[in-house]
Amino acid sequence: MDAVNARPRPRARAASAAPRLIRSGASPILDAPDSGKLAAMLRLLRRHRGESAGSYDEVASVYDDFVGVWDRHITAPALEHYNRLVEQRVKLGARILDAGAGTGERTLTLLQHTPADAVIALDASRGMLDVARSKIHDPRVRLALGDLGQLPFHDNTFDVVSCTWAIEIMADPRAAVQELIRVIKPDGFVVYVFCSLPEGTLGKVLKHVIAKASSKQNALSHFLAEDERPFHRCDYSSLRQFVGGLATVATLGKCCQVTDEFLPCLEVAPPPATPRRARYATAASRDGAATPGGPRPPPGF
Ligand SMILES: C[S@@+](CC[C@H](N)C(=O)[O-])C[C@H]1O[C@@H](n2cnc3c(N)ncnc32)[C@H](O)[C@@H]1O
Repeated sequence: MDAVNARPRPRARAASAAPRLIRSGASPILDAPDSGKLAAMLRLLRRHRGESAGSYDEVASVYDDFVGVWDRHITAPALEHYNRLVEQRVKLGARILDAGAGTGERTLTLLQHTPADAVIALDASRGMLDVARSKIHDPRVRLALGDLGQLPFHDNTFDVVSCTWAIEIMADPRAAVQELIRVIKPDGFVVYVFCSLPEGTLGKVLKHVIAKASSKQNALSHFLAEDERPFHRCDYSSLRQFVGGLATVATLGKCCQVTDEFLPCLEVAPPPATPRRARYATAASRDGAATPGGPRPPPGF
């Protein structure tokens, strides 16, 4: 656990545990993993959202075989967008939290694509963190065991919080994202990636495949329904969908509230005038009123 800024907390809640079914559904075809691996992933998929993180301990050793298929073959456009976003927005010396870091795949991406000074990779599963430890040997990284629903950090600690494929397995995705917002600095941002069931034929086919593979409907709950997708639209947020809506990449600022969609964006001090921000600062309008003086930020800013 990072000693700096670590906030003593009551014992973490039992962490949530189920992954996205599509990962294991696709792997047998593309990777031909042995039946033991597949069985372990399917067992995991049968669990409910919000169950203990111990479930991920069971599959930690085979997780990367499956996540590779998902990340490289199914949701690649979303992750390419994520890479570009962090490349463009993470500043030199940034302190980043990778929340629900798992085996550290995104932690490695953040190290490669950003000039960050420090990355804390937090996860509720010891097994997943053990795999991350075996892969990551960069002194900028610290691994932390903890619950992303109750982060053991003070408010305003990080420049960036990244969370990929984890909020959809939390019992309350909105509360989870609000917790991520809590720990970013006033000029920081949260970037999160989640999956939801696409509309139309693709969604119907997936639903069918999932129902067959899991023999239960639980796995469908890992795809966020429309009213569960935490987001707040303002000049400091962005949202893009990929693969027909299967994957969403979103960013939020400190001003955003996602626990109640009717709350307006909170007023916050304007972000520091980096050249990029300064260009758009005068156009930023929190209450919908047009602010004269410049163009609106491009998508992603
Ligand atoms: C599907 S994996 C995603 C891992 C990684 N972010 C990635 O992109 O591959 C979900 C991860 O969230 C972790 N997790 C589940 N519930 C959690 C919680 N409440 N707090 C922290 N981590 C949690 C699991 O242990 C697992 O490692």
